[in-house]
Parts: sequence; C-alpha cells; structure tokens
Amino acid sequence: MNFESQITKISHLKTDCLAVPVFQSKYGDNPHLKTFPKAIADHIQALFKSDIVSGKGGDGYLLRVGEKHGFAYLYVAGVGKKGELEQDTIRKFGGNLASGLKGKKFKSVAVYIPELFKLNDDYSVVSQMAVEGLLLGSYELLKYKSDPSRKAMPSKVSFVLPDSWDKRKFNAGLKIGEIMAWGQNLSRDLIGHPSNYLTPVELANTAKSLARKYCFQCEVLTKARMKKLKMNCILAVNSGSTQPPQFIIMKYNGPGSKKDPVCLVGKGITFDSGGISLKKAQDMDQMKGDMGGAACVLASVAVAARLKLPVNLVGLIPATENLPSGSAYKPGDILTAMNGKTIEVLNTDAEGRLILADALSYSQRLKPAAIIDVATLTGASIVALGYVSSAMFTNDDKLRKLIMSGSKKSSEKTWELPLWKEYQEQIKSSIADIKNTGGRPAGSCTAAAFLNNFTANYPWAHLDIAAVDIVFDKGAYTPKGPSGYGVRLISEFLREWK
Ligand code: BES
Ligand code: MN
Ligand code: ZN
Repeated sequence: MNFESQITKISHLKTDCLAVPVFQSKYGDNPHLKTFPKAIADHIQALFKSDIVSGKGGDGYLLRVGEKHGFAYLYVAGVGKKGELEQDTIRKFGGNLASGLKGKKFKSVAVYIPELFKLNDDYSVVSQMAVEGLLLGSYELLKYKSDPSRKAMPSKVSFVLPDSWDKRKFNAGLKIGEIMAWGQNLSRDLIGHPSNYLTPVELANTAKSLARKYCFQCEVLTKARMKKLKMNCILAVNSGSTQPPQFIIMKYNGPGSKKDPVCLVGKGITFDSGGISLKKAQDMDQMKGDMGGAACVLASVAVAARLKLPVNLVGLIPATENLPSGSAYKPGDILTAMNGKTIEVLNTDAEGRLILADALSYSQRLKPAAIIDVATLTGASIVALGYVSSAMFTNDDKLRKLIMSGSKKSSEKTWELPLWKEYQEQIKSSIADIKNTGGRPAGSCTAAAFLNNFTANYPWAHLDIAAVDIVFDKGAYTPKGPSGYGVRLISEFLREWK
C-alpha cells in the first residue's frame, strides 16, 4: 500500500472506492456528510434511517453506488460516538478498513478524513494512526503456506483532507505510521516463525541484514566470546541445545546525539521447552514465541534508525533455545553470572531471567543512561493482569513517566508492579547468593527482583510481556497470532526521550 493525501472535492475524486467514517448513532452526528454530493449523502441518510448503518465502532458496510460518481463503491465505517473519539479510534478505523477492503481487488481507495478527526494541533497524529491501523490490520504471515498468495489490498490509499489542514504535517505522519507498523509487523513475523526456522543464528542474521539496510551497527558474539566474558548463565541455558547461542549487539547512533545510550535488552529464547523442568505438552508450541522481547528490541532499533531519531541506542539480545538433553543444565546447579553473583537453579524453566542476568550485567559496560529489558518472562504476569496488559517494573521516575506516556500514545497497555525489597528475601538461596525462583506468590515481582540484582544502580525498567505476546481474541488492528507488542510503545518512548 502506498499512501498519499489530497485536498479536493468528493465530486472530483477518481478512485475505485471511497471510504467514509461515520459516527454513532444518527445521520445528524455526521456534519461532514452534509458537504457530500447529495446522492451519496441521501444514500447514507437512508441507511441510518433503516438502521442498516448505525456508526457503531467496528461496523463496516461496502455498497455499490453505481457509475454516477468518480467511484463505484462506498465503504461506510462506523467509528463510535463522537464524544468518545480518541487516537486509538482512528487506528481502529484503519484496522477495520483493512479487513473490509481485504481481497476486494480495488486498486485505489480514497479515505475521507472528517474535520472531527482533528484531536489536537498535530495533524501528523491522525495520519500516523490511520496508516498504523491499515498496515497492522492487513497483516498476514504467509511464508509457510504452499500457496502464499496474499489477499489483495489496494496499492494506493489517498486520504482526502479538510481544506484547512496542514498537508505537509499530515504527510509526515504517513511516513511515521508506515515505519511504526512496519516495525511491529516485522516483530510479528519473527515471533510467528517456528523455532526450526528461526534459530538463534537466523535471528542474528536478521539483525545483521537490517543493520546493513538501515545503517546501524551489529556485532554478534559467539560461544567462545561468551565464555571469555563469563556469560555462564546464557551458556548454561544453551547447554541442552545443539543450536549455538548468539549474543546480538546492535548500535544506532542518532544524528547529533552525544549522550549516553539507552540500552534495550530483549529475551531471545527461540524455543522454551522448560529444559529438564519440562513444560507440559499442551500449548508448548506457543513457546516458539519466547523471543518476543528480542523481536521487540530488534524491531525498535530498526524503527529508531529508519525514523532517524536523535538518540543513541544499543540493543542487546541473548539468544538461545532452552531444551533438555544429557548435556542440559539441571535443577540444583549453581551458576556464576557475568557480574559474579551466584545463582542456584531451582527450575530450568525459569531460564529467561538467567539469560537476562548476563545481558543486564553486560549492559553496564556501556554506561547506559537507561536500561529497558523486554521479556516474555512469567506466566504469573497473566494471572496478575490478564491478557490485557504487560507488567512494568522500574526504579526510576523519568523512565516511569516516559514509558507510561509511550504506552498511552501506542495504546499498548502496561501497568506498574512493585520492586519491593521483601521480594529479594523470597529469592535468597541457602547455598548461593540467590535462587532462580521464589515460588508461586508474586511470581512476576520475584522475577523482577531477580533481574534487579544485575542492573547495579542504573535507571532501569523491566517489561514482562508474557501476557500480551500473542493475540487470542482478534481486535480491529490486531489479528489473531503474534502481537508484535512493544515496538510502538518503545518507539514512542524513544521519540520523547531526551
Ligand atoms: N517463557 C516462560 C513464560 C511464559 C509463560 C511466556 C506463558 C509466555 C506465556 C518462562 O520462561 C517460564 O517458563 N516461566 C516460568 C517461571 C517459573 C518456573 C518460576 C513460569 O512462568 O511458569
Ligand atoms: Mn521458561
Ligand atoms: Zn521462557
């Protein structure tokens, strides 16, 4: 899909289909329709009258309006009540439009943007939201179908703006939305790839080729280097796998930024069987997505580079499988992490915090201004917040504020849980410094407390995305399957970071 904008009269349009948002619940709630050619406006008014169209958010109607206009089809999309309009309404409008247009073989579509879509003085937000919705809503992973034919989407989408709008601002938002959605869809692809395809090496190769394409640096540490650096926890988790571990380091230096870097750390378990503490068979396939944090970090670095954000950014991804075998690490084993702390392994399925222990220890070498790790870390986060929100932990006010702001802008929900010192008591080991599980109570909090042992005193935030990594109930712009959660949240965070 190519996006553009124009300021023109509807009677001058030449396109296959005109898409029009309508507000709930009556024709009169839609002042923009009064400026439409009479035949079209009357048509929509009649549909409201006979309760065929109500404007309810998510509803969509495709109508043939004949040859009298510059377009043969009209798509009427409900966007809910006027008073409830928010940024995400426009994103959802885009998503619903994508579903409505999918497979319709329209080459070009015009999307009418009503004056009422103006939420503030920033016209770029409207276009960003609409494009994000369209691109996220039309996402499909077809690589693994023998007939990978994509359902047709229009090749050109042209937004029709109110006369007074700043077209340059609007066009800037088109580009931002395109890059944001690209990043999230990239993350979805990575999560969707099964572990026999997306091995740690393949993940590293993806990072390297993105680095070449979008001009950032990428270095991959192999097992020998990891041994020298004493990344014993990653090596232990890797010990049951025949696939070599990879420690991926991505560096993006934004124009004009001389500041200490923001360091993103992503959990990259390309398959989590639980190891010797084997998971049950039911739903184990979902653990191909246990690199959702890594996918988020990889895509976020690429998005920052494509947006040319003025930040210095480092992405760190410890990548390995977690498998049982005769050489696998075992419950009771004691590991010395890169920072020297000793860890008693009580459960080999609590492997995420182990690989993060080394990655967080490594991050301190970079003297980061802030560290954010993203990880599908605990099933307990699903118990705490449901499939609605990720769990956020932080020791820093600035990070809290900017992460919550990024969450609001992206409509990717997160909610803070505590880093109380009582949780440290729960993970004290009788034989080593700490143990890798604290039992059932507050499982997400004890996991975060564990990570806190490897962040020294740096400003740090931890996002536990186990609950939001996969979409089970499809939304307007979130098809079933890998969500790609976090890419937009982190990218919005980075856009605000100073
Ligand atoms: N990758 C899982 C967490 C997870 C669970 C992600 C569900 C996505 C959906 C993690 O490695 C894990 O197994 N955590 C254990 C920790 C426990 C052994 C302390 C868990 O949550 O059960
Ligand atoms: Mn696990
Ligand atoms: Zn895991």
